[in-house]
Amino acid sequence: SLDAARRAIATHTRLVPDFPQPGIAFKDLTPVLADPVGLASVVTALTHGCGDVDLVAGIDARGFLLGGAVARELGVGVLAVRKAGKLPPPVHTRTYDLEYGSAALEIPAGAVELQGRRILLIDDVLATGGTVVAAAQLLISAGATVSSIAVIMELAGLGGRAAVARELGETTAVHT
Ligand code: PRP
Ligand code: MG
Repeated sequence: SLDAARRAIATHTRLVPDFPQPGIAFKDLTPVLADPVGLASVVTALTHGCGDVDLVAGIDARGFLLGGAVARELGVGVLAVRKAGKLPPPVHTRTYDLEYGSAALEIPAGAVELQGRRILLIDDVLATGGTVVAAAQLLISAGATVSSIAVIMELAGLGGRAAVARELGETTAVHT
């Protein structure tokens, strides 16, 4: 249940002071996922309200762990949205801005049918939203519909939810 997931997150999240920068308290979800009840409850919570889904996509790197488990729970397949440079050609690529510099995500072009498929997009954390927006735009440019985005944790005050609404519109629901 959602309550079980909330309890597991509250109990097992590890706070790391001054990482990645001084003054930032990093929320490390590693022990949540290493706990059997934590993993099961979080995976179930990520499927909450997702509607009909044809395929799950998990974002590099912790979205891979979660995406496979979520796909199994829903009885659908999984696609890895990878950091650039890992997949064999041909690929679709999308570059996005980071606080300093930029990064790129890739999916295979042609290896998996994406046209018209309803995708549940999974990642661990929503911060500025740059990552999930780029991943969603990549899938949409390949013909898919990103019907839902689900993350374990939303970092408040960084504008992630607003960025998703602005860039992807109301057809994409965000669940945390
Ligand atoms: C972290 C996190 C999300 C992203 C959220 O990943 O796992 O994917 O940042 O930030 P955003 O909403 O501002 O884009 P990171 O890019 O640090 O890499 P990792 O997943 O490989 O650790
Ligand atoms: Mg990430």
